[in-house]
Amino acid sequence: MFKGIDFYSDTVTKPTPGMRKAISEAEVGDEQKGEDPTTRRLEERVAEMLGHTGAMFFPSATMANELALRLLCERGDEVIAAEMAHVFGAEVGGPAVIANVMCRPIYNDTGVFSGQDIRNLYRFSTGPHYPRTRLVVVENTSNMAGGIAWQRAELNDVLSTAKELGLKTHLDGARLMNAAAATGLKPNEIAAPFDTATLCLSKGLGCPTGAVLVFDKAHVESVRRLKQMMGGAMRQSGILAAAGLYALDHHVERLSEDHKNAGRLAEGLATIPGITVEKKFNPTNMVFFHWNGKISSDEWHTRVQKQNIRFSFAGKDRLRAVLHLDISKEDVEKTIKILKDI
Ligand SMILES: Cc1ncc(COP(=O)(O)O)c(C=O)c1O
Repeated sequence: MFKGIDFYSDTVTKPTPGMRKAISEAEVGDEQKGEDPTTRRLEERVAEMLGHTGAMFFPSATMANELALRLLCERGDEVIAAEMAHVFGAEVGGPAVIANVMCRPIYNDTGVFSGQDIRNLYRFSTGPHYPRTRLVVVENTSNMAGGIAWQRAELNDVLSTAKELGLKTHLDGARLMNAAAATGLKPNEIAAPFDTATLCLSKGLGCPTGAVLVFDKAHVESVRRLKQMMGGAMRQSGILAAAGLYALDHHVERLSEDHKNAGRLAEGLATIPGITVEKKFNPTNMVFFHWNGKISSDEWHTRVQKQNIRFSFAGKDRLRAVLHLDISKEDVEKTIKILKDI
């Protein structure tokens, strides 16, 4: 287990003592039967927070995303999303295997696209041999493309185009609360216009695992059946839901600290020879940078790890640093100093 300053991802956070206490005191029941009271409380709270009438707790955001694709599409339909989107690049081909859909990626380096980008890929022809464009997936914040928060106007453009073209919309809001913190938009202002939205609890919110999918309550039986089919029905999941409720009470306000720390890290990294920081518009808790020094990026990162600091690779010579609740302002200063010495 890595025990240093861990920029690998915001998934590495450990439950705080307060969260562990909430977990230990959770009231529990059988979630598969809808009888876990803590899970139900979490679902109701997230539904309200995101402006939807239905919500269900999932073991992971991956499962919630894939279920949404399956729910909203028919076999052979096409899904439009950014090429670097998690649903396309990090769910093991789930769109093909679970939802039986075709992927139509939008290639850009921000993950934020426009209504015109959708129009460019939308199949206007109605001949019998064309697949049907069915769904647009927005990832907010966009993870591998830079941790970028979509602005209101950008969301409006995509949502109004989707509506005009009769397309369904899914929000992969794994880091939705970061997007809200960065833009000042309320979570429901971001999520409510989508047909479905995933909120992940195990990223910046600091829970051990879990995600909530929101949708129109008319879908509740379909969602429950698909979740059971995918092996996602749980039993005493209240111990995990309690962590989620705790996180919503205690870990949301602090997300802007991570954004500030990311800004400071970007500034510090930019002063180090061999490093080029990607400049992003509306960044949140992530910093992407390129290593172009004399030694290889692998060798450089091995040296970094020897100093108990870890990043993750996001491409050849491209690295990602993710800020989260287990990394303090002091850790960031220490990191900059150590990297300068290396
Ligand atoms: C944008 C995005 N969506 C979905 C997921 C999947 O989350 P989980 O690990 O809960 O399956 C991740 C995980 O990193 C992510 O970054």
